[in-house]
Amino acid sequence: MARIPDAFIDDLLARSDIVEVVGSRVPLKRQGKEYAARCPFHDERSASFTVSPTKQFYHCFGCGAHGTAISFLMNYDRLEFLDAVDELAKRVGMEVPRDTQPRTAQQQDDSRDLYSALDAATRFFQTALKGSDKARAYLDQRGVDEENRERFAIGYAPDGYSALKDALGKDERRMKLLDRAGLFSKNDRGHVYDKFRDRVMFPIFDRRGRVIAYGGRVMEKDDGPKYLNSPETALFHKGRELYGLWQVRQANQKIERLIVVEGYMDVVSLFQFGVTQAVATLGTATTPDHAELLFRNAPDVFFCFDGDAAGRRAGWRALESVLPRMKDGRQAFFLFLPDGEDPDTIVRKEGREGFDARLQQATPLSQFFFDELTREVNMGTLDGKARLAERAKPMLAQIPDGAFGDLMKQQLTTLTGLGAKPSASAAPSRPPQRAVAPAQRRSLVRAAIAILLQQPSLAMTLEGHHFTGLRLPGIELLTELLTLVEQRPDISTGALLEHFDGREEQDALHKLAAKTLPGDEAMWTQELHDAVAQLEKQLLMQRLDELQAKQSQQGLDDTDKYELRELLKARSTLRF
Ligand code: UTP
Ligand code: MN
Repeated sequence: MARIPDAFIDDLLARSDIVEVVGSRVPLKRQGKEYAARCPFHDERSASFTVSPTKQFYHCFGCGAHGTAISFLMNYDRLEFLDAVDELAKRVGMEVPRDTQPRTAQQQDDSRDLYSALDAATRFFQTALKGSDKARAYLDQRGVDEENRERFAIGYAPDGYSALKDALGKDERRMKLLDRAGLFSKNDRGHVYDKFRDRVMFPIFDRRGRVIAYGGRVMEKDDGPKYLNSPETALFHKGRELYGLWQVRQANQKIERLIVVEGYMDVVSLFQFGVTQAVATLGTATTPDHAELLFRNAPDVFFCFDGDAAGRRAGWRALESVLPRMKDGRQAFFLFLPDGEDPDTIVRKEGREGFDARLQQATPLSQFFFDELTREVNMGTLDGKARLAERAKPMLAQIPDGAFGDLMKQQLTTLTGLGAKPSASAAPSRPPQRAVAPAQRRSLVRAAIAILLQQPSLAMTLEGHHFTGLRLPGIELLTELLTLVEQRPDISTGALLEHFDGREEQDALHKLAAKTLPGDEAMWTQELHDAVAQLEKQLLMQRLDELQAKQSQQGLDDTDKYELRELLKARSTLRF
């Protein structure tokens, strides 16, 4: 039977909206954060059937029916699993990958064809550039040299409505491919025409050097949007791509730093002036996916923005995306340019040296963080300090454990004088370990599980979880949940529950997931981090107890002694 990869199912569920799917078949009523209806799966007068948009699952308190958008289609439309997946994929415009032999080959052919259609289009645009005096004059005037026109495969999409269509859309199949590659638009009457017309074309390459999309720039003002970008397609998800990354990889053996700028032309100009580590987000804010991609490629990342209010806001968004990824060894800096300038104009005026000098002066993340947070509060008052602490703590809790996080927390203490102790101590102090009743400890596990069910992605803010072997009820379940989310970061609550289908934990998990947890994302993050930190400490104490018991009964060997010393050392640095 065809097996569809879990990652695809997660992605599919992430892009579908269960409220829409259920709502198109059953009349839903809004009820707070959720939707309610009379259950379509059993006879009832009251509405015990709920659909949660945040958790992407449905649940009936009456008959216990539950599941994801996929299981809803299976049960309501009586579809087979694969047909339900197909149906859903059609709604959101995704291609279902299948790994049975013939299908795989077909599938591979399909995307190979898509890449080659884009490749043909890119060459068509490049040739058209050679033939267009106007487009070449535009690039001359913007000072783009021949080498970089080649490097970035810059081209020109001719005027008229069918230049590309006429050149490449020879038959129906090719037309379909070009359409799926995002190169056509359609009018109300269904007439298909070139999407990019009379624009300078900047192809966007993927990490393997294949063109997956374009940005097209107008040459005269008032000719529609300045840049027109390809729509999201099977190959192109703009929140996950960085313009220029392929070229950076080509130009550098080892990438020491990446410089994130806002525009296509900024990247091109920086390269031309020798700054060959520039990439651009594609007209979007820096996403967490971007942050991950950036740090996977280089240890130091510089974010470059306009100096105005919008630039600082964009900087803050970038900061929010990188905080959870600030492992030790990684550094982020922020560079704000003078009013009216962008990296393109700066590097042309000041050259590579000038631009590098500015990078040298860039603001480290820590400084930007506290500058921004203290900007709006009066640090001369207790109230102001409290407000700073309140805003900073949940954000600092997202930083992976390590020296950087500790220093940031220390800095907060210094600024506020409030005891925000480094690491794991932001939670109210707890009674000494041995006094904690088992029930209370169990509730720690339960709390962590409840949070993960509420919002599985929070597991990704954790830097590991080292409590395997801890003898507490539920600990294995918690570990399993954490591992599952690590392997499938996009997994929704619904899909997570599906994983436990047919197992004895299923019911309990369901009830827990159907609850609405009080608090918000920041609080849950904090609580989850605290719970994991506590459990790690408990494992340490459990092991200490074991060794001490052994010591009094039969004595310790060298390895035991070593472990005991290490554990005692570790305990002395912890606060309980
Ligand atoms: P800017 O407006 O700052 O333009 O847009 P720029 O990069 O300096 O462009 P030039 O120098 O005038 O050619 C920054 C980025 O925002 C996206 C593009 O990715 C652009 O490079 N953008 C901008 C759009 O997607 N659409 C637009 O209409 C404008
Ligand atoms: Mn510009």
